[in-house]
Amino acid sequence: MLDLVTVILAAGKGTRMKSKLPKVLHKAAGKPMLQHVLDAAKNAGARRNIVVVGFGGDQVREAMGEQAEFVVQTEQLGTGHAVRQAEPLLKDEKGTVVVLCGDTPLVTSELIAALYEGHKAAGAKATVLTAIMPDATGYGRIIRTPEGEVARIVEQKDASEEELKVREVNSGIYCFECQELFAALAKVGCENAQAEYYLPDVLGILREQGEKIWAVAAEDYEATLGINSRVQLAGAEKILRRRKNIELMDKGVTLMDPDSTFVDADVEVGADTVIYPFTWLEGSTVVGENCQLGPNSRFSDAKIGDGVCAQFTYGHECTIDSGVIMGPYVHIRPNSHIFNDVKIGNFVEVKNSNVGQGTKLPHLQYIGDSDIGTGVNLGCGTVTVNYDGKLKHRTSIGSNAFVGCNTSLVAPVSVGEGAYIGAGSVITKDVPAGSLAIGRAHQKNIDGWVDKRK
Ligand code: UD1
Ligand code: MG
Repeated sequence: MLDLVTVILAAGKGTRMKSKLPKVLHKAAGKPMLQHVLDAAKNAGARRNIVVVGFGGDQVREAMGEQAEFVVQTEQLGTGHAVRQAEPLLKDEKGTVVVLCGDTPLVTSELIAALYEGHKAAGAKATVLTAIMPDATGYGRIIRTPEGEVARIVEQKDASEEELKVREVNSGIYCFECQELFAALAKVGCENAQAEYYLPDVLGILREQGEKIWAVAAEDYEATLGINSRVQLAGAEKILRRRKNIELMDKGVTLMDPDSTFVDADVEVGADTVIYPFTWLEGSTVVGENCQLGPNSRFSDAKIGDGVCAQFTYGHECTIDSGVIMGPYVHIRPNSHIFNDVKIGNFVEVKNSNVGQGTKLPHLQYIGDSDIGTGVNLGCGTVTVNYDGKLKHRTSIGSNAFVGCNTSLVAPVSVGEGAYIGAGSVITKDVPAGSLAIGRAHQKNIDGWVDKRK
């Protein structure tokens, strides 16, 4: 556990996103960019995280909840001005502050830890994380002395032609000794091309005061990429998904085609699960071992047991226990619990229902607001009629019941244990356990009718 506090800058509008949503709330691999940064900070051991909000601040606070402390920057006067807003919360902090940007979702806890350790080892007052960019356009450039020490950072818009050729850039991530940071920030002016208070100016100021400033170079520039546009967001998304796929494969998950497998950052998958192409695993989904998911399946916030087979299936906010076989073309909607060894065949929808162990829903069913026991067999075309136009009602089906094809169960209604229902029935009254219910018109055969018609 490192002893550090972070300040995360997230007040900017993100003009280039062309969005009403604050930039840092745009999602990559299923979670807001700011959440990626916050998670990396927490995993690096940060004991306090202070987020500077401004544009859409209420939205950002609401999305992050209790995870961080917040300060407001009412006017976006630059990154230096943004960090100063955190001063009241940090005036008693004697330790080390890491400044991060809310728009760098690829940053890792390892990188933050490497920056912190490099800073401590050097005994510096300020350390900047740098990266060598293939295309440095837009970034602040690291200007070094002939001896190789960092002299200052110059922004793209303030740089000379010679300085623009430098490919070593400011990642926007820094480590500072807290007291020195705020003392230097008070001296930062805004005489520059953007008339902004630049945080990177702190390095030049400290150096002129004879303090040691330092740079740690990121091995891989990707982890420092700052996202300013939708095109860059799509690039970050690709990198995060590739990282996640590699993590899963390293843990024993088979991905038939990683390029067409989309797994959100926080999803967990057990060993020996095989994922077929065009499968999405989203949000807080947890998948057990030995499953076969896909092709073409999507699970969001789903809890899936071991040995589940699901093809062409969409499940969200649902629990699917072990040994369940589903698909093709199955939709499991929120608040559904499918117990062990249930078989769900083609074109079936289940909503807000419990389906007991070993029950079969083989084809063309709608099951809504229902409690179904164990070992039940529902014939093709069984429908729970749960909605009367105003209210939803529940259906209950006892264990080992057998429901004939094309039956409508008009809720509220219950079918007792082991009961049978004749095909084509419309069931409007409760069916006692162990009995047979038939609710359909009697068939009448008229002899010779065809000849008489001639
Ligand atoms: C900044 C750095 C640049 C660095 C780059 C890395 C400055 C002056 N420049 O440039 O050297 O290479 O990041 O990505 O710092 N923000 C606020 N309040 C403000 C302004 C910005 O909170 O008044 C926040 C933004 O929301 C964003 C972060 O600070 O999360 C960086 O701001 P941005 O405008 O993206 O800075 P860059 O021009 O990218
Ligand atoms: Mg930026």
